Amino acid sequence: MAPGPIDAYRREIGEELQAGNATEHTHRPALRSLIESLAPGVTATNEPKRVECGAPDFIVSRSAAHAATNLRGTNRPAATRSFASCEPPCTMEHVATQVAQKDFGAYYTSTRVAELLVGWAVRNHDDRVLDPSCGEGVFLEAAAARVTALKGQASSQVHGIEIDPKVLRRSLAPLLRRFLIPEENVRISDFFDVRAPDQPPFQAVVGNPPFIRYQTFKGPSRQKALGLVRGLGVALPELASSWAPFLLHATEFLDAGGRLAMVVPAEFTHAGYARPVVQYFARKFARIQLASFSDRLFPELNEDALLLLAEGYGGECREFRVKRFQGVKDLESVLELRKGFGARVGLAKLQDTNGRLRNHFLPRDLKALYDFLAADSRVCRLGELAQVGIGYVTGNNQFFHLSRNEARQLEIPPLYLKRSLLRSGMIKGLRFTSSDWVELRDEGEKVHLLALPKVAESELPDPVLEYLARGKRLGVHKAYKCAVRNPWFSVPHAQAADTFLTYMSGDAPRIVWNSAGVLATNSTHEVRLNSLQRIKPQILSLAFCCSLSQLSAEVEGHPLGGGMLKLEPSEAARTLVVRPDLLKFSEAQFEEMDYFIRSNSMSSAIDMADDLVLRGDLGLNWDQIQVLRNGLTEVREQRRKRIATSSSN
Ligand SMILES: C[S@@+](CC[C@H](N)C(=O)[O-])C[C@H]1O[C@@H](n2cnc3c(N)ncnc32)[C@H](O)[C@@H]1O
Repeated sequence: MAPGPIDAYRREIGEELQAGNATEHTHRPALRSLIESLAPGVTATNEPKRVECGAPDFIVSRSAAHAATNLRGTNRPAATRSFASCEPPCTMEHVATQVAQKDFGAYYTSTRVAELLVGWAVRNHDDRVLDPSCGEGVFLEAAAARVTALKGQASSQVHGIEIDPKVLRRSLAPLLRRFLIPEENVRISDFFDVRAPDQPPFQAVVGNPPFIRYQTFKGPSRQKALGLVRGLGVALPELASSWAPFLLHATEFLDAGGRLAMVVPAEFTHAGYARPVVQYFARKFARIQLASFSDRLFPELNEDALLLLAEGYGGECREFRVKRFQGVKDLESVLELRKGFGARVGLAKLQDTNGRLRNHFLPRDLKALYDFLAADSRVCRLGELAQVGIGYVTGNNQFFHLSRNEARQLEIPPLYLKRSLLRSGMIKGLRFTSSDWVELRDEGEKVHLLALPKVAESELPDPVLEYLARGKRLGVHKAYKCAVRNPWFSVPHAQAADTFLTYMSGDAPRIVWNSAGVLATNSTHEVRLNSLQRIKPQILSLAFCCSLSQLSAEVEGHPLGGGMLKLEPSEAARTLVVRPDLLKFSEAQFEEMDYFIRSNSMSSAIDMADDLVLRGDLGLNWDQIQVLRNGLTEVREQRRKRIATSSSN
């Protein structure tokens, strides 16, 4: 069999490595050939001109003729409009299609969900309907059918806006013809260029807004969007993704008393930047219902989505109603009865959870117990005991961390080396000891931070200067974090923290006692105990293992699309812990918990912490503890299901 492009690539870089002087740059020509061999018409430009987002290593482009073939390839039958995942073999065709879809946040809704939202929002024969980002038209189709069934006129009542002209040609035009909807009803435009007063108001706004993260949602489009919502009196933070201004602008098109029914990302319920959106909706709608689903709406996507049903535009909301359903079918059954659904969350309750709706999706008995314990004076928030912050950031961990052998060969003076924890995965137990560190060092791990002072290069010894010169040849000094500090090689790092928090976990987060006194990168959070409270770090570590704190981490943190739990420092600061100063247990008990965790038995550690902390010190009975444990198991299993789904995608 003839060698494939990957074999050729491996052979070439193998030869360079054998020559003994290979660098990232010497590998680039081979990489370029590999990229260009993947599909016809592809050009990979090595070290192109700087672009707005920085200095990319490569820009990969494709000739228009080939790209057009690509996009035609995305046409799918109407019944399967959901976004097709990139199945193996992952050719350049797939990749380019996905990039185009990603740029516009174009993940299409299923017919079933569109029909459900339209069925709820369109109620009268003369309702006018708008989908402000109509894509291939799944909502327009549902709206046309609904309006026709209500004896209205789809041709005059159903309208859409879409930024991507190719979509109209590709799939929307035949659909419009089928329902006798004139093409003028679909405006090809950036929604942020369309102003509500230019057309009669709509009784229903439906759809699935583009989800483009702030890193990609930038430039004039972003400025326009943020400017528009500033006009509504909403200041969206810089981290806002595109859906947030989209949703806000969409409300402007509603008639008094109108309804908005849209797909929203899970971030609506927990992201800091979503809070102004939630508050705006509370001021503008009489009633808001939010449905989340155990079975994901977009199984192929790394992002959970919910359905937002807001009605009575122009009224003022006194409460949200939220409910988790198993699947769309269950919501359909509830809506058929024309009844409201879900737990009531008044605005005061929303304040209690820092404006986050996510916390209110817990089952009722669990939420009641959780709130009861949160109000108990023997329970507090982690932020009352400690400061939670991120670990140090180097800009290039590979360069700024050295193994013992590397440090020796480079002759870096010990003065410039600090013991460090490079990855959270290096923590095995409930405490990180000096022996743990030594073990990692002896295994050849990069456990030394190159900790250089803020001095002129000329003040550094020759071996260090040689290493820095090598870094410059590799372009390390140009990485964003290095380029913005002065001097680029001096990594800011504070004193070692008392404890670390493993803030990104597939399983259970831990507060780990840093008995070795090492520094840590931002792969863990640093938890620095308030000195006045004289809390023993091992007691906090142990207390954090109980079901209450573990559940609290799930509630106050947020799942990432792939099923991992993430706790931002502000979220970690809100997790509940039983006050460590009230807890009594021995060193031997801590050792036993540490042993359980090192033996991969977090469940035994939780059992023990529940017995010691919740039953022993807090005096909860077994029924109460069982409610917490069952709740924790359920929330965690739900989240972990995402890990299974995303890894099988
Ligand atoms: C998530 S898709 C939804 C499409 C369709 N409503 C559906 O649910 O199948 C988002 C759509 O928004 C379009 N879009 C992205 N940015 C836009 C903008 N600024 N103005 C109008 N449409 C936009 C994309 O091209 C894409 O078709």
